[in-house]
Amino acid sequence: MTVRDIFNDMSYGPAPESAAEVLEWIASHGGRFGHWIDGGFADLGDRGFTSFNPATGQPLAEVAQGTDASLDVAIAAARRAQPKWAKLSGHQRAKHLYALARLVQKHARLLAVLETLDNGKPIRESRDIDVPLVARHFYYHAGLAQLLASEQPGMAPLGVCGAVIPWNFPLLMLAWKVAPALAAGNTVVLKPAEFTPLTALLFAEISREAGLPKGVLNIVTGDGDTGAALVAHPGVDKIAFTGSTAVGRKIRAATAGSGKALTLELGGKSPYIVFDDADLDSAIEGLVDAIWFNQGQVCCAGSRLLVQEGVAERFHAKLKTRMDGLRLGDPLDKCIDIGAIIDPSQLASITAMVDACREGETYRAACPLPAGCFYPPTLITGLTAASPLMQEEIFGPVLVSMTFRTPAEAVELANNCRYGLAATVWTENINLALDVAPKLKAGVVWVNATNLFDAAAGFGGVRESGFGREGGWEGLLAYLKPAATPKPLKPTLASPAPRAPETPEIDRTAKHYIGGKQARPDGGYSRAIWSPRGKLLGHAGIGNRKDIRNAVEAAHAAKGWARSTAHSRAQILFYIAENLSARAAEFAARLRDLTGKPGEAEVEAAIARLFTYAAWADKFDGAVKSVPIRGVAMAMNEPCGVIAALCPDEAPLLGLISLMAPAIALGNTCVLVPSEPHPLAATDFMQVLECSDLPGGVVNIVTGSHAELAKPLASHMDVDAVWSFSSTPLSALVEREAAGNLKRAWVNHARARDWFGPEGEGRGFLRAATEVKTVWVPYGE
Ligand code: NAI
Repeated sequence: MTVRDIFNDMSYGPAPESAAEVLEWIASHGGRFGHWIDGGFADLGDRGFTSFNPATGQPLAEVAQGTDASLDVAIAAARRAQPKWAKLSGHQRAKHLYALARLVQKHARLLAVLETLDNGKPIRESRDIDVPLVARHFYYHAGLAQLLASEQPGMAPLGVCGAVIPWNFPLLMLAWKVAPALAAGNTVVLKPAEFTPLTALLFAEISREAGLPKGVLNIVTGDGDTGAALVAHPGVDKIAFTGSTAVGRKIRAATAGSGKALTLELGGKSPYIVFDDADLDSAIEGLVDAIWFNQGQVCCAGSRLLVQEGVAERFHAKLKTRMDGLRLGDPLDKCIDIGAIIDPSQLASITAMVDACREGETYRAACPLPAGCFYPPTLITGLTAASPLMQEEIFGPVLVSMTFRTPAEAVELANNCRYGLAATVWTENINLALDVAPKLKAGVVWVNATNLFDAAAGFGGVRESGFGREGGWEGLLAYLKPAATPKPLKPTLASPAPRAPETPEIDRTAKHYIGGKQARPDGGYSRAIWSPRGKLLGHAGIGNRKDIRNAVEAAHAAKGWARSTAHSRAQILFYIAENLSARAAEFAARLRDLTGKPGEAEVEAAIARLFTYAAWADKFDGAVKSVPIRGVAMAMNEPCGVIAALCPDEAPLLGLISLMAPAIALGNTCVLVPSEPHPLAATDFMQVLECSDLPGGVVNIVTGSHAELAKPLASHMDVDAVWSFSSTPLSALVEREAAGNLKRAWVNHARARDWFGPEGEGRGFLRAATEVKTVWVPYGE
């Protein structure tokens, strides 16, 4: 072949990266690795299993299958190391994280080649994306460690964090878990995925070179059983998980009631929306990154193409041409676009899902397909919104496509999915892009770009894509807790009926408050509420499952509240405060009757709290993140949706308002179950709500037994977040039931909270009432 031929042909020649150094590194360990515990490899006698190179099927190394006993040793090491690590100054921890960043850069080539060998991803990606992002994560978190004490006063580390990570970005997911955990003063026990344990072990060695104190980072290898044992271990204070929604759900249920903090970054079926005015060629290139990056084995892959009808034919034709030009093959070859599928089992799963599809038209790229664990770039057009492949995560290089006519239809189709991780919007019309982005149910939205990640920008999902953010201050907060030691919460009991009850002249039976109207309890039952002195104060309805369903329905119908301006929400909160203030003496008397204690201070505090959240309504700002692109990444605080809450028993009025006010200030609607022993302060408060211009359905109140109502609230598939501050011990039940649709759960774990003091209000409540959506808008050339 002559140079002239090459210029004419423009084809690539192979440019393979050498595996020699990596194979030498593996050989230097005898081809077998123990767990990394207390600063060194530990052979605890566990049986081994093999990690393979998916591109060749050749064994790479043997690693140990972690057991309960090995986890005991690793968690004990992490526990021993934690207090000393937390005691270091932020600056000292920052220096350690900086050293890790520097050494990741120094060993970048070794890490990238090892990642490609173990995972099958193209070297171009591990070299140019995974490893640089890992270094960036440690640099960024060195900065957070440095600033932590001044920026987050009064916060403390959680303790020992257990991290369970997947095989698609083995080293990057390690960095996403380890960097914030360490920056915040926690120590870590991490379990890498069974298919890809090797870069974690190399990183562990690098951490020793960086001088990380022993026991701060521990790696226990193994499969899902090891992961489950780590999750269940009583010695861990937090679980950070990335992986499938099915396993995330199990982990939510397994940790319920344990008091362990939990963040879950799960699956997705992210829409990729192309409007007819988009720069189609750019959108095609974006799509290559969206669905053929890492063989489509990406949680936020743009796997669901929604293309506007007028350009669909042209777009699909261009796409097929581009697909035909993709190069599959040896992942170590720098010219390769698409590498190997992680494992024959995953290849079988992708094949089975695609082969089972009996609808639409399937196009397989005409590019040559190497033998082995490879799957061709595939496009399936002509599906309907309900097609299984439109709804289910394939986790492979398979794109499904549908068309739409209007922007409203695009949003509807995009949101017609149980997931909510990411979304991409392509249009040259900034007005359209910024109109659509907030309407998409997703934790991340990319405008005219896709799969952009940065340590400064929060990443994570809504709906069944999980909860919690990784990256930015919002990510760091998931590794911190208030420094003050909480006190146990004592039960608050209702006053018992007297032996010889008097009969009141006029019966007073309070109703529920649903959809802006007082509603009779569905079951038709109520219970008498007595004062401590035996006076009958009235009757309160006993709510049931149907009342909860009605209330949730009403809360959904009122979701337009989220679109009202923050200014008008603030005005309504001020107005509620004004109307409560006008009846302050009456409420104080009611509280005294209910609790036997003077009520003035509680009414005053309730009015002040309403003012607090009227103030916050238009001040809980988002942020513009300093990400390394030309453009902006906007972190927007969006309401969770419908929040259901069991209110504190001990502060019948203030407790209810402390949960209601932050929820509605930020655009949520809510279903509240007031204090169980003292519900009548809340039922009186309905009248205040009725005359305060609050749209019907924004606040719904159902009285009754917390134990009875917790399950219907926490398991309801149309509730987005559930809070429990009840003195009935319901945290375990609420967290377990929340696993169904992976709604966010915020519970008290039987710890008391001073509703009158600063811990009864503030940013913690505002954060619980919102999800951060990061909208990336690159601009310029
Ligand atoms: P997976 O969710 O089973 O595995 C992820 C991690 O969790 C691994 O380290 C695994 O050992 C561990 N694990 C498994 N069962 C566990 C349990 N009961 N308790 C604690 N840890 C457990 O994902 P897998 O099997 O590797 O892939 C299956 C499917 O999951 C893929 O086809 C894909 O659809 C999805 N997936 C999604 C990812 C994402 O980033 N969203 C990443 C990996 C897989």
